[in-house]
Amino acid sequence: MKKMYITTPIYYVNSVPHLGHAYTTIACDILARYYRSQGKDVRFLTGTDEHGANIEKSAAAKGVSPKAWTDEVSAKYRALWKTLNISYDSFIRTTDPAHEQVVQAIFEKLLKSGDIYLGSYSGKYCVSCEQYYDESEMGENCTCPVHKKPLTDVHEETYFFKLSRYEKPLLKYYEEHPDFLSPKTRANEIINFVKGGLRDLSVTRTKVKWGVPVKSNPAHTIYVWFDALINYISAAGAGMFLCDENKPLHEEKLSLIDAQDFNELWPADLHMVGKEIFRFHTVIWPAVLMALNLPLPHQVFAHGWWTVEGEKMSKTLGNVIDPAELGAKYGVDPVRAFLFREVPFGQDGDFSMTSFKNRYNADLANNIGNLLSRTLNMLAKQQPEIPAEIVLPAEVAQKIADTQTAIDAAYKQLAFDKVLELIYGFSSDLNKQVADTKPWELAKTDPEGARKILLELIGCQRKTAAWITPFMPTVGAEMTRRLAAGPIEKYAPLFPRIADK
Ligand code: MSP
Repeated sequence: MKKMYITTPIYYVNSVPHLGHAYTTIACDILARYYRSQGKDVRFLTGTDEHGANIEKSAAAKGVSPKAWTDEVSAKYRALWKTLNISYDSFIRTTDPAHEQVVQAIFEKLLKSGDIYLGSYSGKYCVSCEQYYDESEMGENCTCPVHKKPLTDVHEETYFFKLSRYEKPLLKYYEEHPDFLSPKTRANEIINFVKGGLRDLSVTRTKVKWGVPVKSNPAHTIYVWFDALINYISAAGAGMFLCDENKPLHEEKLSLIDAQDFNELWPADLHMVGKEIFRFHTVIWPAVLMALNLPLPHQVFAHGWWTVEGEKMSKTLGNVIDPAELGAKYGVDPVRAFLFREVPFGQDGDFSMTSFKNRYNADLANNIGNLLSRTLNMLAKQQPEIPAEIVLPAEVAQKIADTQTAIDAAYKQLAFDKVLELIYGFSSDLNKQVADTKPWELAKTDPEGARKILLELIGCQRKTAAWITPFMPTVGAEMTRRLAAGPIEKYAPLFPRIADK
């Protein structure tokens, strides 16, 4: 049976992870948890991108070998994912020998098919982007459009991938698969880029030592993006797939898992990426897959970028947000939820402590948290235990079913902000109901009536708890525990209010 296969980009190990990296990964984690709760068999892949000139340089700057450096930073990513409660199933490193062998095998296969050929290249190159820029793309005075630094003149013998061959097939694919380029607002940029004409892509470097060597010509190492994109299939067991007639290309087992797994996983359902790497994933990657005769992923979704208090996050400005530090202070779950309530997924957003605190107090402390403690305190005065089964009136059950339908639809659109809006809205309706029916007063004249209202509130909050769990796994589980059948205890607030300072 085909599994649901969701991937994050693999992260560069030239510096430590920050809020931006966490954003992409938490988005996938929310989806993975949601789909698992729907009974889907999910494979969630993440990892680290460890080759290339930039990593070679940052290792040299630290005075350590590239391998030692990548080990250190890759471990930092895994540690952060643990802290942020990321439920990934596989973690790939591009320095895994199994991955390197798949990259080499694919390269040789495309060399044989004529999709890769040897040529030479002169152009203007940005070492930081690991990319050539032509005149129409470069900034003023021959500078990199991203880094604003002067571009370097480079002339080298290089292998090319025949990207130009895939111009028409790509356009056809976009047209026939309208969800492939998501969100829709970013589709035109890609379509126009491809319509503008594709040039063959240089896919090897002779100057970069820290890379996967071309098997048949080891003076060349494989371009880091070509190497990196392949992670999505090497981690799915493409090595076995590449073996002709069950004859291994190499002695070693090429893949991490076997060919049956590959067919259960590939094609991916979703590659989640930031907007700046959308083009790599929607032009180069599908063309490589076409060259390999492999099916294409169903969807590539580009999310926006976070600034911090209006500024670009950068080491020089010293405003880089460490999500672990923020989580240690306010709880990991509130941080996870904030990122997806504050900004519609796909758009750029700004992180500010003021909006974080405001949302925390309004959505979590005063809404969900307050409702839970009020209900439990009031009920405890009536009876010491919560019953296992709570039968909800038909109209309440209907409201829950409608909300569920709306939540499912929002997930389909990756509209995380809508999902949270629906959940928080459901909870504030319940709070309103408490204010309107005043069970604490009713209890004096009609204890049975008050009890009924409170039990209904408990039943509804069991739903809220389940709904928030993909965003806030720890809090969701704790809320579920407090609402489960059994004695009502004295609990600390789920979300202690953040004081204004
Ligand atoms: N190694 C490549 C990806 C190869 S995938 C085959 C890469 N790595 S990265 O470490 O630079 O960044 C990966 C992700 O982090 C991207 O999805 C990017 O959008 C995200 N972010 C990095 N900074 C960000 C913000 N300030 N805001 C939101 N996301 C950003 O690119």
